[in-house]
Amino acid sequence: MRLAVIGCGYVGLVTGSCLAKAGHEVMATDNDPARMAMLDSGRLPIYEPGLDRVMESACAAGRLRFTSDCAQVVRAADAIFICVGTPPLDSGEADLSAIDGVARQIAAAARSPKLVIEKSTVPAQTGEQLRHALGVYGRSNGATFRVASNPEFLREGTAVADFFHPDRIVVGVEDDGSEGQLREIYKPFLEGRFHCPIHEPKCPPGPGPMFLVTTMASAELIKHASNSFLGLKISYANLIADLCEKLGGNVEEVTRAMGLDPRIGPYFLNAGLGFGGFCLPKDIQAFIRLAEKHGIDFGLLKEVEAVNKRRIEQFVEKVRRALWVVKEKTVGVLGLAFKPNTDDVRFAPAIEVVRRLIAEGATVRASDPFAINRARLLLDGVEFVEDPYDVARGADALLLLTEWQEYRELDWKRIYREMARPLVMDARNMLAPGKMKELGFEYHSFGRPDLTANTVLASS
Ligand code: UGA
Repeated sequence: MRLAVIGCGYVGLVTGSCLAKAGHEVMATDNDPARMAMLDSGRLPIYEPGLDRVMESACAAGRLRFTSDCAQVVRAADAIFICVGTPPLDSGEADLSAIDGVARQIAAAARSPKLVIEKSTVPAQTGEQLRHALGVYGRSNGATFRVASNPEFLREGTAVADFFHPDRIVVGVEDDGSEGQLREIYKPFLEGRFHCPIHEPKCPPGPGPMFLVTTMASAELIKHASNSFLGLKISYANLIADLCEKLGGNVEEVTRAMGLDPRIGPYFLNAGLGFGGFCLPKDIQAFIRLAEKHGIDFGLLKEVEAVNKRRIEQFVEKVRRALWVVKEKTVGVLGLAFKPNTDDVRFAPAIEVVRRLIAEGATVRASDPFAINRARLLLDGVEFVEDPYDVARGADALLLLTEWQEYRELDWKRIYREMARPLVMDARNMLAPGKMKELGFEYHSFGRPDLTANTVLASS
């Protein structure tokens, strides 16, 4: 099939590259000239494991092309994926101006029937608005438009594997023709013809995904409801961690046992610094606002947000208590990305923690395997270094803020020798408290017994 992808961010690039890899003809466009220049020269504007290989091979096979000419992309395609950003407005609502702009561009350029698919995360009923806009602005072109919603469930860091082995493919449609076209687009994935080209343990072939056909509004709601529920699980685990700290429990023991109940499930119950990134926080906000607009008080989600925001302050307070005086202390930071295996620092809890420590007069030296360049744009007054051992050198405290696997594998004996004071504050519960104690560290994490010889943390 001839497909268009409008918007070359995380979602657009993964969608376009994977669909081209699976055999479709894909043309992709973006209105950011710098991004297009990078893609033209074969470089990726983001770090996403395995995406470079998928993109390269799709381009080499002549099935994936990039151009700044949006009208050309629209005219060449039977189906168009809208993958533009929907960032939060000050009110928390999703800013749909990019969707609106693209709708008008599609309407103006199209000369034949098109299926327009919203892949961007949008509030329910956006599809209806989109259909209306396409009809109105395209009324004199002789083109007809059908609209569908096909939300993505890609996680940054494993997005390629998620695309090749989805749990479910949700299509919100209004007619059989659109359903048929979408089945055709996803046929290679439904038939399991393609295995994930990046061989990660996380992507076993597994059973094929469920293809769910719903109304457009349901599909739009499924996306917001799913991300909000993930946030709810995390905030729940974080409150359990707080209780464990007060009562002497261990949050890992509690959530592990909870997760063995299939009605609860083991995932997204890791306590720590809370959730960040460009999806969960903004989608929860947008869902709350959407509910409010329609007379429903989603107080439950407001609490999820509030619990999540408090994590930063709770952690900084732990640092304050451990360090006694923060001003003029050297604090090493390992991890800036909002989670491992991505260079994305948008709404990263780590960034907020660093800002607060700087404001309190600490000297911060920070590292991240991939996110330093992006973090530089958000943080002033931080010394960035590549080598984690340089971060530890002479530090009064070492903060683990993103759970990169390489940090687990550091030579912690060496870190102990490098530090002025062997104090490790693990905001992601990455390391084993017993082992850290054995090595002589003062070690603090969330919701687990501190097991520290010389702890100065009050237990209340
Ligand atoms: C999220 C969803 O997981 C995807 O299904 C969805 O497609 C995507 O948003 C999107 O809307 O595009 P992502 O933003 O990549 O994916 O990140 P997650 O893996 O969901 O992690 C979000 C945050 O939660 C991270 O900061 C992570 O550290 C934190 N987290 C996750 C926890 O604090 N505890 C956990 O147990 C799990």
